Amino acid sequence: MTYELQTINPRQYDGAMLFLYGDEGASRALPLSKREVACVNERRERGRDFIMTFDRLPHRLYVLSFDSELPAPEVQEGLRRSAMKLLRLLEADGVESLAVTGDGALPEEVMAAVEGITLADYSFDRYKSKAPWHLQHVVVDDSFVRADELEASQRLWNRIFWCREWVNLPVQDLNAERFAEELQSIANDLADVSCTVMDKRKIESLRMGGLMAVNRGSVDEPRFVVLEYKPAEAAASRPICLVGKGVMYDTGGLNIKPGDYMQEMKSDMAGAATMASVLFAAAENRIPLHLVVLLPMTDNRPGFNAYAADDILTMYDGTTVEVVNTDAEGRLILADAIAYAARNLDPALIIDAATLTGAAVRAISTYGIAAMQQGAANELTMLKLVGEQVYERLVEFPMWKEYDELIKSDFADLRNCGSTPQAGTITAGKFLAHFAGKVPYIHLDIAGVAYFTKEQHCYRAGASAYGMRLLYAFLQMQDMI
Ligand code: BES
Ligand code: ZN
Ligand code: ZN
Repeated sequence: MTYELQTINPRQYDGAMLFLYGDEGASRALPLSKREVACVNERRERGRDFIMTFDRLPHRLYVLSFDSELPAPEVQEGLRRSAMKLLRLLEADGVESLAVTGDGALPEEVMAAVEGITLADYSFDRYKSKAPWHLQHVVVDDSFVRADELEASQRLWNRIFWCREWVNLPVQDLNAERFAEELQSIANDLADVSCTVMDKRKIESLRMGGLMAVNRGSVDEPRFVVLEYKPAEAAASRPICLVGKGVMYDTGGLNIKPGDYMQEMKSDMAGAATMASVLFAAAENRIPLHLVVLLPMTDNRPGFNAYAADDILTMYDGTTVEVVNTDAEGRLILADAIAYAARNLDPALIIDAATLTGAAVRAISTYGIAAMQQGAANELTMLKLVGEQVYERLVEFPMWKEYDELIKSDFADLRNCGSTPQAGTITAGKFLAHFAGKVPYIHLDIAGVAYFTKEQHCYRAGASAYGMRLLYAFLQMQDMI
């Protein structure tokens, strides 16, 4: 999709146009007759969210009615979500280029509509013999949006596409080695970004017992990738470390996932894709922050000398862990990465993103992120507020000390899953928090939102990159405070 800024007079514009109609005052600017305006307003009495199409041959006018009186984040999310319906109309009408404008609309509303159109337009097409329809061009009214603003958003959206593409790619075409190569090649082209790829030998020499164990059943080598963005303006500051779960495919290992539970587990590296993509977007938009992204990557398979329940692992920081279930692999590889960050990088804050537990999906479904914190209450409060703004929301789960009992092992320091089936998301978070030690730490369980089985919000079926807009906005804010 390409974008262009133009001054648009809705009465004169010569092309397909989307007009944002937040309140009745907007009708003044429209090329509509009194009867047509009455029609729109009458329809609004039965509910304000709809799209009405008018033939203005040879073009079409799409009037997008919304309720401008709702709280701003809800208005914006509503506009994002109406994009899917709009795109269907555009496809049916054969529209390739669309202008977006309004009268009395807020700049954020216009941007939300454009963002929704952009995110909804993405689909995973790589393996389709015939490329599906896509909107080609969007013209944005320059009385609402500045060029630098649109360009910065475009760079973020582009990274969101990359993230979704990686998550959608099956493991046959994206294993740890290839993913590391892709990250390295992107990093090579970006100013102030460096990429270190550690291979199996290096991981062994670092004694990352969690990552090594999970990789033992695989024919593919593991990787540990460290991306650093260090602009001169922030070079002296302690980094924010972003850790992402990079399980390229999760079969469950010897505790193999039964039935169709294995399906969609190509998305188990969504945390890694998200964190890498956030760093790339931050670097491309020159956010003056020191960031380090740490990505432990392997698939989890039952082959060869696969790690087994009852194995006792020695992790990077020396903690011993009894394996109770090989399907609780994410926390094992993340623990090494979190400990590596805490030990070597003196971080101001560690945040991880991981498709970690089915329990998170059961608790809150596909409507948000399950979050926990240790020593980072203020940071999480801030993240929560940002989440409400961009509508990538999170809910905080408790870190009460009672849960520590559930991850104590009879034979080792910790066990890799709780001793009772309850509170699976919390015991996972508790396990990870152990490895952050005294460093302020936030855990984001994105299992419910990283990948949608069917179309949802402004996303088609597949990867969403949910969490990227949240983290990007959070980092942008850090720069301001
Ligand atoms: N990758 C899964 C979690 C998951 C489940 C993500 C569903 C997305 C959708 C994770 O590695 C896992 O298998 N977790 C187990 C943990 C259990 C064995 C303690 C789970 O949640 O069942
Ligand atoms: Zn698993
Ligand atoms: Zn997993």
